Amino acid sequence: MTRYQEKYNSKKITMDEALALIKSGDEIVAGFCGGEPMAILKQLHTIKDRVTDVTVWYSLGMGKYEFFTNPELKLHFTTNSWFHGFGAREAHSLGTVSFQPGHLHNAFTRKIEVKPPNVFIGTVTPMDQHGYVKTSLSVLYEKTFVEHADLVIMEVNPHLPNVGGDTELPIDLVDYFVEVDRPIPVLPTAEVQELDKIIGGYVASLVNDGDTIQLGIGGIPNAVALAFMDKKDLGVHTEMITSSMAALAEAGVITGSKKSLHRGKMIGTFALGNQKLYDFLDGNPSVQLLRGNYVNNPFVIAKNDNMVSINTALQVDLSGQVCSESIGLRTYSGSGGQNDTAEGAIHAKNGRSIIALYSTAKNGTISAIQPWLTPGAAVTLSRNNIDYIVTEYGIAPMKARTIKQRVENLIAIAHPDFRSELREMAFKHEIW
Ligand code: COA
Repeated sequence: MTRYQEKYNSKKITMDEALALIKSGDEIVAGFCGGEPMAILKQLHTIKDRVTDVTVWYSLGMGKYEFFTNPELKLHFTTNSWFHGFGAREAHSLGTVSFQPGHLHNAFTRKIEVKPPNVFIGTVTPMDQHGYVKTSLSVLYEKTFVEHADLVIMEVNPHLPNVGGDTELPIDLVDYFVEVDRPIPVLPTAEVQELDKIIGGYVASLVNDGDTIQLGIGGIPNAVALAFMDKKDLGVHTEMITSSMAALAEAGVITGSKKSLHRGKMIGTFALGNQKLYDFLDGNPSVQLLRGNYVNNPFVIAKNDNMVSINTALQVDLSGQVCSESIGLRTYSGSGGQNDTAEGAIHAKNGRSIIALYSTAKNGTISAIQPWLTPGAAVTLSRNNIDYIVTEYGIAPMKARTIKQRVENLIAIAHPDFRSELREMAFKHEIW
């Protein structure tokens, strides 16, 4: 047995032993998205009788856990989220989950500046022969919090792919390991609809061979990528590596050979998608996951010449303000890196910031383009950071356009059923 194996064995504990380490007043950060320690979080509520005031931070949560779905546990657990996944969203009405606004590139470092959480619980791959584990599907904030925590517990999951980049962690930095054998979170590939293909075609017309792309989270960006199949030498600098990016790389479209930064490498900070994506990532030297405060720093993004950020939104107003994270006052997701990537793109040489969305929501009953955002809606992307808004009706240029021009351009890509109403409202409220 090697000395690494001996050390690892001395740190190996059971689930019950791990839970016994959590005490009242602890502030825990859970691993992000695919790195979520689902087995431990699933059991966390079982310690309720001996703890109060335990705070759990999690982001783009992949699971729903009793510690926040049971409102009777409010005195025991507080849950905070940087980006709502379905569980946090559903728990909103229970008042058990609170949202923390912030940009992906610095929400976590700002949290540490105010009060560093004392516990980190994440997920890693099994140890290699050199005494390292890997954070695998996310390096967004994992290592940053590990460096600041007093107690680090990691689930060890053999199903995680071996992903390159800054994912390695020496076992010395981990206090305890809990071995688990659970499936890793998978995002099934949604079927590409006719509207997606049309929107994809418009977005593709704004992207040139050799550009570096970022694709956001949501149905449209994933579908749009498939419209890039006839492009050449695209590069990737993105927060989330998606299933469609793996498909583009395997088709030879993404090569990164023209990138001005990290040439030849796909750069991201986390990956979420289907099993094909995870197989693509496994041991693949062309992909590097790096920390979120580097990858999504707008100054770093801007070093990519021909950088194109492509995200989607829930609503835009006639001046070009973009809401992507709330439906009125109610938090739906989070800013994530939407503003980071748009800001980086508009500061890059020949960069472009694109929002692509369906012209309507709720089966065509609501226009996604409104005279103003629904009261209470969060402005995710400032109207100052947007170059193009795209719907299935075309492309509305925003860059260097006045409000009057923006109104005209946006009405032209609104659903025909809502165009005259938008025009009337623009006139009545002097939106120009
Ligand atoms: N008014 C009211 N409801 C609306 C709406 C509108 N204008 N637009 C959409 N909705 C509803 C939809 O009906 C749907 O509800 P349902 O789940 O009950 O059917 C829900 O909002 C989600 O819409 P959908 O279009 O399916 O969202 P999506 O999964 O494609 O995600 C965002 C879209 C905008 C929420 C997502 O991209 C996001 O969170 N963006 C912010 C972060 C980001 O872009 N980061 C960038 C880098 S990863």
